[in-house]
Amino acid sequence: MQVGRVPKLQGEIRPPSDKSLTHRAYLFGAMGRGETVVEQPLEGEDCEATLRIVGQMGVAHHRKKGRTFILGREDWQTPDAALDCGNSGTTMRLLTGILASREGLETTLIGDSSLSKRPMGRVVTPLTEMGAQIEGDKAPLHIHGKHLHGIRYTSPVASAQIKSCLLLAGLRAEGETWVTEPSKSRDHTERMFQALGVPLLRDGDLTVGVKPATWDGFKFRVPGDISSAAFWLVAAAIVPGSEITLKEVGINPTRTGVIDVLKQAHAGVGVTPDREELGEPVGFIDMHYVQDLRGFTIEGDLVPRLIDEIPVLAVLATQCNGTTIVRDAKEMRVKETDRIAKVTEGLKAMGADIEATEDGFVINGPTKLKAAHIEAAEDHRIAMTFAIAGMIADGTTTIEGAESILTSYPTFWDHFHALATR
Ligand code: S3P
Repeated sequence: MQVGRVPKLQGEIRPPSDKSLTHRAYLFGAMGRGETVVEQPLEGEDCEATLRIVGQMGVAHHRKKGRTFILGREDWQTPDAALDCGNSGTTMRLLTGILASREGLETTLIGDSSLSKRPMGRVVTPLTEMGAQIEGDKAPLHIHGKHLHGIRYTSPVASAQIKSCLLLAGLRAEGETWVTEPSKSRDHTERMFQALGVPLLRDGDLTVGVKPATWDGFKFRVPGDISSAAFWLVAAAIVPGSEITLKEVGINPTRTGVIDVLKQAHAGVGVTPDREELGEPVGFIDMHYVQDLRGFTIEGDLVPRLIDEIPVLAVLATQCNGTTIVRDAKEMRVKETDRIAKVTEGLKAMGADIEATEDGFVINGPTKLKAAHIEAAEDHRIAMTFAIAGMIADGTTTIEGAESILTSYPTFWDHFHALATR
């Protein structure tokens, strides 16, 4: 895919539906009793993998007019083939918790070449402590479902995937299952539990727990994904004359770190809360271009609140006055690609002043960007990040592997053309 300079961004779009929430709606729907209707689900490849897998487990579903209907059941069946999670870490980690806790189920989870390199020991180790029997600490994972017992687990990393995996396993485990994380990761699982009447145990802000529970099917309209919205927020912040509105976006505070950073950079961003969907706040985000952006710092508790947005925020940093520092973000190295390496390599090729560190990078700005050839295979967010950088670069930027964008943002190029006026 090729991207050139755009004169400005203008208009209003509704970003694609939230990936994290669509996964959870499908899994919770598949495990609940009776019919669940997921309105406006994300139809990206990652969530489609989750839906396909629950189908393989014997859960009936169909799609009609932008809605996914799921007939949930408690007795999932052993499938006759391996379960292919594709590129999706969320699919693999959340399902590992669910499948490991279902006595008698025999399953194998596989993934693409990127997912097969990602660490699964982070969920296998605590699940094993709960009595799970899982072979492998990377895909393929062979899971022999067992009756588990609850544990108190302190996670070394702030990861919603680890937390959710253990809470989902805890729904069928003996006693209580508790997870403590070092700082707060996205809390969609906890909010969905509460909205569905599943009791959520709490001990302070960083420790949550569950005990065995069941629930009924539900109806959920999935809000737009702030992680996808972030690409246009950064684009409008760096392309002079831009003015855009993003509507129906999820603005859960555990996901809005990108807004805090845009404010830190003195960008022209505004958020207007509107309503709630199953305990998830939804609103509008406005952004207009302003001059004299300032460098910013991303560290500590802010990191899990914008972990997927750091690549595109690095593009913002190249246009800010002064130094931007990203630290405490080592997790970026185990995403779909090593995103610290990918961002540094790509932005350097475009002429930015960026140096990688072990857990982030340092960027000095502003610098004029020039077009480059970017290799983004297997990482949708790297592909989209460099599409945004290409909007302000001299020349034509080529992005190899841009098909990866289909995993989370199938309508990315439609929105690109709708917002980028010529
Ligand atoms: C996700 C959690 C994050 C994020 C991923 C989606 C989720 O991963 O990077 O894109 O839906 O729970 P970690 O929780 O492992 O950081």
